[in-house]
Amino acid sequence: MTKGETQSASAGEGRALPTPGEGKKSQNTVRVISVTSGKGGVGKTNITINLAYLLSKMNKKILVVDADMGLANIDVALGLTPKVNLFHVLDGRKSMQEAMIEGPGGIMILPSASGIQEMSDLSKGQKLTLLDELRSLSREMDFLLIDTAAGIAGNVMYFNMAAQEIIVVASSEPTSLTDAYAIIKVLHQKHAKNRFRLIVNMARDPQEGKEVYQRLNQATDRFLNLHIEYFGYILRDERLPEAVKQQKAFTALYPHSPASKCLASLAEKLCHEQPVGGDPGGIGLFWERIIEKNCG
Ligand SMILES: Nc1ncnc2c1ncn2[C@@H]1O[C@H](COP(=O)(O)OP(=O)(O)OP(=O)(O)O)[C@@H](O)[C@H]1O
Ligand SMILES: [Mg+2]
Repeated sequence: MTKGETQSASAGEGRALPTPGEGKKSQNTVRVISVTSGKGGVGKTNITINLAYLLSKMNKKILVVDADMGLANIDVALGLTPKVNLFHVLDGRKSMQEAMIEGPGGIMILPSASGIQEMSDLSKGQKLTLLDELRSLSREMDFLLIDTAAGIAGNVMYFNMAAQEIIVVASSEPTSLTDAYAIIKVLHQKHAKNRFRLIVNMARDPQEGKEVYQRLNQATDRFLNLHIEYFGYILRDERLPEAVKQQKAFTALYPHSPASKCLASLAEKLCHEQPVGGDPGGIGLFWERIIEKNCG
């Protein structure tokens, strides 16, 4: 694992904002995907890290945004020590480039976005600068994966609203299912999101994954008139917490384990599918929406 500190350029040094012409070029095909759940502790952070790692092994450029303000952050999970986070960027003290750290397989990580809370305090000029930075940054990316916190609190909703594709993670625990239903309901009814894909994590076997999906889909079908898609399952693996303890990506540590094979097949799907029915927009729109929602 490469343990990145900060990028070399100091704040604002030698960095020109993109010109309007460059802005046009930034209409790229980056896919903005949020990984979310109703209940906490179902595996979002691990799934995000490992999908990012596996996609980057397939030569995709990945930016992971840690949108969880809790303690189990991506940098902690990977043993990285960011000196700068989004708060400093929003504050104008550091550039986005400086805030990003490099994780396993060369994935780029934007550490905990706790500064998002402060967005309402930004001036219009600061917001535009931020947008320009993000636009130019995303030009090189294929995927932007957002690891959200659990639940239906404000920030989780903002990030899910802004994402083009939403992956909901649940386990077979009944509360995980009812909470997954709750987040889908809010996103669908209040924020007009219509496409959800489910990953069933910590499944005992493939059958359990299917059953969990069917139960959830029956509920959304019946009460929300909404069909959700089954993205797949990840087997429970007792060595996974071990990888967390070692602050490594599980799929890097145990690439041949059954759970890693499940993750690899999900990464393959993401890599090779044509994004369908997603919300159009790209990263520029993603951040515009976040800023809009936060600055109302
Ligand atoms: N497939 C799995 N098999 C066994 N343990 C797992 C599996 N997936 C995740 N875990 C364990 O579950 C715990 C929670 O995982 P993780 O932190 O990724 O969840 P989370 O959804 O991001 O939690 P939070 O809501 O707190 O952010 C970790 O200890 C992790 O090792
Ligand atoms: Mg997490």
